[in-house]
Amino acid sequence: MTERSGPTGRSEHRRAVVERCRAMAPWWHSMTVYQVYPRSFMDSNGDGIGDLPGIVQRLDHLVDLGVDTLWVSPFFTSPQEDFGYDVSDYCDVAPEYGKLADADHLIEEAHRRGLRVLFDLVLNHTSHEHPWFVESRSSRDNPKADWYIWRDGRGPGGRKPPNNWRSVAEITSGWQWGEERQQWYLASFLPCQPDLNWRNDEVREEMFRSVRFWLERGVDGFRLDMFGDITKDPEFRDLNLRPTMVGGIPRIWDRSPIQNTDDNVELARELRAVCREFDDVGGPVGDGPGAADRERILIGEVFGSAEQLRRFLAGGDGLQLVFLFDFLTFRYDPKWVRARIEEFEQTFPWPAQPTYVLENHDRTRLLDRVGGDVAKARVLATLLLTLRGVPTVYQGQEIGQSNTFIPLADAKDPIVKTYFPWMPEAVNSRLKERLNRDEVRTPMQWDPSPTVGFTEPGVTTWLPVNEDRRTANVETQSADADSLLSLYKALFAARSQHRALHEGRLDLVPGTPKGTLAWVRSDGEERVLVAANLGRDAALVPTGGPASVLVATDRAVQLTNGSASLPAPSVWLPANSAVVLLLDGPDDSVGA
Ligand code: NOJ
Ligand code: CA
Repeated sequence: MTERSGPTGRSEHRRAVVERCRAMAPWWHSMTVYQVYPRSFMDSNGDGIGDLPGIVQRLDHLVDLGVDTLWVSPFFTSPQEDFGYDVSDYCDVAPEYGKLADADHLIEEAHRRGLRVLFDLVLNHTSHEHPWFVESRSSRDNPKADWYIWRDGRGPGGRKPPNNWRSVAEITSGWQWGEERQQWYLASFLPCQPDLNWRNDEVREEMFRSVRFWLERGVDGFRLDMFGDITKDPEFRDLNLRPTMVGGIPRIWDRSPIQNTDDNVELARELRAVCREFDDVGGPVGDGPGAADRERILIGEVFGSAEQLRRFLAGGDGLQLVFLFDFLTFRYDPKWVRARIEEFEQTFPWPAQPTYVLENHDRTRLLDRVGGDVAKARVLATLLLTLRGVPTVYQGQEIGQSNTFIPLADAKDPIVKTYFPWMPEAVNSRLKERLNRDEVRTPMQWDPSPTVGFTEPGVTTWLPVNEDRRTANVETQSADADSLLSLYKALFAARSQHRALHEGRLDLVPGTPKGTLAWVRSDGEERVLVAANLGRDAALVPTGGPASVLVATDRAVQLTNGSASLPAPSVWLPANSAVVLLLDGPDDSVGA
């Protein structure tokens, strides 16, 4: 291969090589994820609880929307104290969600439609009802005695916890007393979720067996719950009680010294190796692009700076993706957004991929974060689906479901019941970060009826239905070209039709007018300009040349082709609007 000399020649050469490699990028590079919370997605048998056959009934919604990958929150056998994040059998399905055959059927039906499927693996802890824990807690010398993290206590009779580690909820110790053993076990999240001891080889092997169990059944990968918390400090040293910020949330305790450890990165490598055993087996049977690509993927729920989290990729041998949660607590401010994009671009350069998330089953709905302003939610949807990185949409986000206020006294969420039953409602109702996760887990709204098409009429749903159902529902919004749902569909369609949007590079445009930001996605000759106005006033953003509109969040968005008073071709953006433009031909002067 000949290489032109000089810096320009070399960078052009590199660019050409990157372009060629992009053409061979793995399927997950252009993945778009839709998160289903099974208890609240669709109830197929009228018991008021969503289930696996229900998900199958509604799979076509994902196809209509235009996503290509389904992530299902846990549906494995569980006493449901944390609604499935407390597993008591990793290789079976909770009866209220169906049978093993229903999980197989879900994978099959998703693949038939060209959708990939990710399951949710809870590796950090099991339920306290898991037979392993029941055995482990029974004595100090049973065969599973070391499968969980047991320690002697401090002080007289060992009745003080072994160290000062707190639970994730921060206000109580992370240690729980085990009467039979007269010892403490670590439960980083809730007392009903004892942490597994991943330094025990039998635990590792047994958990890997469960991973293989689902890979054999054809699942395309996993979302990994609390992945950065799995391997603890082997010395169990006390930590400093030092206030800190994590993902935009103030914390009174700094967990970082025991999170995201090198051993945990090593675990990412081991899990990836397990997935690689299946690279040539089973997998998707759809005819969509990349159907031949069998790579199984891992996406970690991890917390820390982008720089810390990148380590989990282990130079291509670890997790393929890590969730970056900064946008769950976004500031609706172009400078803040720009800084995050720059950080993600620098930390996850191609062939790595950043990720973007605006909602999930744990955190306040997007619409509530923007004070109910749908125009702002539309701008953020445009960002989510046009930035370089894997986007995830949480069920109901696409129709603008808002938080359903549920008083603490009625909460089913164990976080509330365990840690905050004392919290006065007057305080709770004013908290910006909501404590009661029930508020974002109410039934998915398929139609405007009182049971929203989630279950049969007259059935009491496991959580109440939100009153916003009359407008925030799939049926009503499908018939309205200006609805949020129609916007999401248009954005997904543009993203999949234009390689520049799903695989292209991203360049932020310098010097755009106050309140705005813009970026160009490019792939070979194709160039797409995205401009967003997060400011209070309308703004004109230069396009650098002729362009055509692919998607606009507002009918008032307008292209101007240049005139005596406005010489540069530009796009006129009302306050809180965004546009996706296909640029005609190469031109480097965008935004100048
Ligand atoms: C994070 C999950 O997203 C959350 O829903 C769950 O309660 C905890 N991990 C514990 O597994
Ligand atoms: Ca049901």
